[in-house]
Amino acid sequence: MKRLLVTGASGFMGSRVVDFYRGKYEICAPGHGEMDITEEAEVISGLRDWRPDYVVHCAAISDIGRCEQEPERSLRINVDGAVNLAKASALVGAKCLLCSSDQVYAGSIVTGPHRETEKVTPGNLYGREKLLAEEKCLEVNPDCVSLRLSWMYDARTLNEKEHGDFLRTLLAKIRTSETLRYPGNDMRGITDVNEVAEHLEAAFSLKGGVYNFGSPNAKSMYDTVHSLFEKLGWETERLARDGEAHGGNSRDLTMSQEKTNGAGIYFMDTEERLVRCIRAAIQN
Ligand SMILES: NC(=O)c1ccc[n+]([C@@H]2O[C@H](COP(=O)([O-])OP(=O)(O)OC[C@H]3O[C@@H](n4cnc5c(N)ncnc54)[C@H](OP(=O)(O)O)[C@@H]3O)[C@@H](O)[C@H]2O)c1
Repeated sequence: MKRLLVTGASGFMGSRVVDFYRGKYEICAPGHGEMDITEEAEVISGLRDWRPDYVVHCAAISDIGRCEQEPERSLRINVDGAVNLAKASALVGAKCLLCSSDQVYAGSIVTGPHRETEKVTPGNLYGREKLLAEEKCLEVNPDCVSLRLSWMYDARTLNEKEHGDFLRTLLAKIRTSETLRYPGNDMRGITDVNEVAEHLEAAFSLKGGVYNFGSPNAKSMYDTVHSLFEKLGWETERLARDGEAHGGNSRDLTMSQEKTNGAGIYFMDTEERLVRCIRAAIQN
């Protein structure tokens, strides 16, 4: 059995990656206390002891606001931590997948769908950290793969402490009578984390570099939810278009699928996958 090391396995994505590949790979999922990713020597000795074939690096400060509040700490975790994993993976000959984000496209003056080759200048610290991590990791390990993930969801809660997401927030609200507000000026893909986990195996064979890695969607959040409600036969009257998000400026994080599709990896369309997940969640 091939060996897979997952960092951040107590978090939202890492726990699902472990869940998805349990039984198929021999999994090592060191917690923060066992392997602090900001400690280079600890990371190198951890990987030397374990000798993984593949590394999926999910540990991070994933909250945009927390990065702004704790800039030095988030830089250490999101940039130095990623570089330590990329470097240690090269030393032990493991293929390293790093979690980047569609936030590298925040603040872009170019209209989406954004391509990986676009020159980007992220408008928030988290996005700048992710971009810097991509660049520095490729310098120390040209074979590593940075996956630009979009906003992810799951209908299940695996761990009471994990952060919430788009789908579970929506599912909790549909049982109330409150008006549901979604930005009409925020265009982005939203992706089932289980689909991301499934496609990681194909990503193990990708050439080193940066890849957009999430469901396509050209619509705003409001238009996406409106269309979802129509497809599900739900009342759309309770939906309200919010034009105030992001200081009233429109934001376009939509990602081109061309490079990922060229490598044989296809994500379902945001709306199509959400309809399927919502129907399944409601039946359960
Ligand atoms: N969730 C999304 O929608 C989304 C979208 C785009 C990109 N991403 C990226 O995808 C990755 C996974 O995101 P997520 O939502 O699963 O994150 P998350 O739920 O916030 O989990 C973060 C994990 O990192 C661990 N961690 C933090 N500092 C650490 C350190 N110094 N050493 C070792 N472990 C440490 C945490 O463990 P402790 O709690 O024990 O510290 C936790 O297990 C991140 O890189 C994130 O930026 C996420």
